[in-house]
Amino acid sequence: MIVLKSKEELKIMRDANRIVAEVMAKLKTVIAPGVTTGELDEIAESMIQERNAKPAFKGYLGYQHTLCTSINHEIVHGIPGDILLNEGDIVSIDCGVFYKGFYGDHALTFPVGKIDSDSQKLLKVTEEALYLGIDQAVVGNRLYDISAAIQSHSEKNGFSVVRDYVGHGIGRKLHEEPQVPNFGEAGTGIKLRTGLVLAIEPMVNMGTWKVKVMPDEWTVITADKARSAHFEHSIAITDDGPEILSKV
Ligand code: MF3
Ligand code: CO
Repeated sequence: MIVLKSKEELKIMRDANRIVAEVMAKLKTVIAPGVTTGELDEIAESMIQERNAKPAFKGYLGYQHTLCTSINHEIVHGIPGDILLNEGDIVSIDCGVFYKGFYGDHALTFPVGKIDSDSQKLLKVTEEALYLGIDQAVVGNRLYDISAAIQSHSEKNGFSVVRDYVGHGIGRKLHEEPQVPNFGEAGTGIKLRTGLVLAIEPMVNMGTWKVKVMPDEWTVITADKARSAHFEHSIAITDDGPEILSKV
């Protein structure tokens, strides 16, 4: 079942998603060589609590933390802890909140200090793919127009898109229908309508699209250990086009 959101509900979702965006803006200023992912997690949790919201991932299927922090060849669901960020790393930060009955979800990949030019390109292309996907999120288009835009931009640049994990509807639940894959055929899928809210989240790999899950049963890595990036926005489809909710 796909749940469309009213104008009133969108107002709350805007607030929920603004909180994740504020957290991300703060983390951007903190991320540097020598900082641990556990420290980032603590900062995020206290910022969310100060705003009378709850970390959405904490307690979700037994997950214990506020953030997912995925370094280099880790794609998503990396667990924060005593792990030092090093010069040249890339770190994907994923943050969800629950506020006044609604969820917000947002992810960005950050460079740690100076990164090599291939990694710079990976970050740039993945972020561009997200925005090209968002551009397709308009009334009258079909769902996989979003997917196809993400896939074609990523592959055109020599990268691959992850198949095993996808974007999703978001609202009173963190994961609602429909699933939003990062691959697909333009012109197919459900028709997009006003009030549909989606978390669009390309996960783009330098090498193979194939993944493995680590023995911790959370951390998803690339099968060939090549680097991966992840950018995610929660967006609402409105009569005036796509509105990015997860921004300050
Ligand atoms: N942020 C992920 C998503 O977009 C969910 C994280 S799973 C969790 O779907 F268990 F870590 F919360
Ligand atoms: Co998500």
